[in-house]
Amino acid sequence: MANRHGCSSRAKYLRTRVERFRRLSFGQRHRFLLNRFERATGAETLRAGPRTLDIVPTHRCNLRCVGCVHYETEGPPDLSIEFFREVLEESAPWAIQYRLCSLGEPFLNRDVPEMLRMAAERGIGCNIMTNGMLVTPELADFLVRSARIDMFTFSIDGAKAETVERLRRGLRFDRLLSGIAAVVEAKKRRGSSVPVVQGSFVAMRESIEELVDLVRLAADVGIEDLNVNYLTVEGETGQADSLFSHPELQRRVFEEARRVAEETGIVLHLPPDIQDDSFRTRCVLPWDTMIIDTDGTARMCYSSWEESVGNVRTDGGIRAVWNNGIYREVRRTIESGSPFYRYCEHCGRRVGFSRLEAHVGKGEGNARLFRFDWDRPGAPERPHGTKLVNPDAKAAP
Ligand SMILES: C[S@@+](CC[C@H](N)C(=O)[O-])C[C@H]1O[C@@H](n2cnc3c(N)ncnc32)[C@H](O)[C@@H]1O
Ligand code: SF4
Repeated sequence: MANRHGCSSRAKYLRTRVERFRRLSFGQRHRFLLNRFERATGAETLRAGPRTLDIVPTHRCNLRCVGCVHYETEGPPDLSIEFFREVLEESAPWAIQYRLCSLGEPFLNRDVPEMLRMAAERGIGCNIMTNGMLVTPELADFLVRSARIDMFTFSIDGAKAETVERLRRGLRFDRLLSGIAAVVEAKKRRGSSVPVVQGSFVAMRESIEELVDLVRLAADVGIEDLNVNYLTVEGETGQADSLFSHPELQRRVFEEARRVAEETGIVLHLPPDIQDDSFRTRCVLPWDTMIIDTDGTARMCYSSWEESVGNVRTDGGIRAVWNNGIYREVRRTIESGSPFYRYCEHCGRRVGFSRLEAHVGKGEGNARLFRFDWDRPGAPERPHGTKLVNPDAKAAP
């Protein structure tokens, strides 16, 4: 997603990126630059592996957020430490960063702290995203001391307890704030500038008017960076919850939030305005990131959950899947008028958010968009990895 920052927050953001680059080993820097070169030139077969391995630690969650979709796959609910070790063994010689976000709450998998420590031991920096309910001072201290977390992201969908607790059922706002404080305190105690503490806000009708106060709250509680995404209409949400129907409100709030972010020094990442129909950018995810599910099923992005690009356990490993026929076809066609993954044509990451398709998930009767175009002449072979077991996935062509 394109980021729009003010001047001083942009400078701060760039400083963080430079510091992050400096923490890389010589080999990692080389592979990072190779990855940048290959993505800039649109190469279809890549010498550099994925820059980011987005590893799913669990499907289980302790909350029931209104917008969340609970995908079921054949794999086990939790990533095992044995499989994590396999991923680490294969990728440590070339990996640059891991991201642990998941379909559920990462810290429900009790092995996640140890996995983060193991990654650090091999020189791999990690980003983690959490709802904060299980982040205690002890955990925060362990992670700041023993892991190498570059970005610690807390989902925080509003500035008022009652709003956040309504949208994220089961959450306790005070506990979320304590989780954030635990990481901020652990960093202070250890004199560490990392992890960067990030907030993640899903912008929707019910919460958008709290964004400006959230920027102020972020500054008060020690959040340094706030990332805003639009709601994808999924789960229990409907089109009326989306800001697609409230573009003026979105623009007004974003303008004010940008101003307060400048004032408070928060690095604020905003998606493009809904009325901006000229927004175009390249999506680099097929050159950058591979998602690995608990059973080894690989996916190319969080908008393509219905489709597997292979299985890193059974299809020859991560780098073999990374350059297989599906990935090459996605890279070859993503900027054409007819991308192999049909949704790329409508995805907000490429074409902004001025069209409804960029705001809706597959629940709106458009399941076909979220599938590869297997019927086109010369389509690559279907992967023989894990089958999806979502009813919608079965019904789609
Ligand atoms: C699925 S959660 C997993 C990580 C962790 N459990 C958490 O809450 O941060 C990842 C992120 O997706 C966001 N999310 C969930 N449903 C969404 C939707 N329909 N549209 C946009 N973002 C959504 C959540 O708010 C959260 O920030
Ligand atoms: S759907 Fe296509 S354009 Fe959108 S994030 Fe995924 S790969 Fe990128």
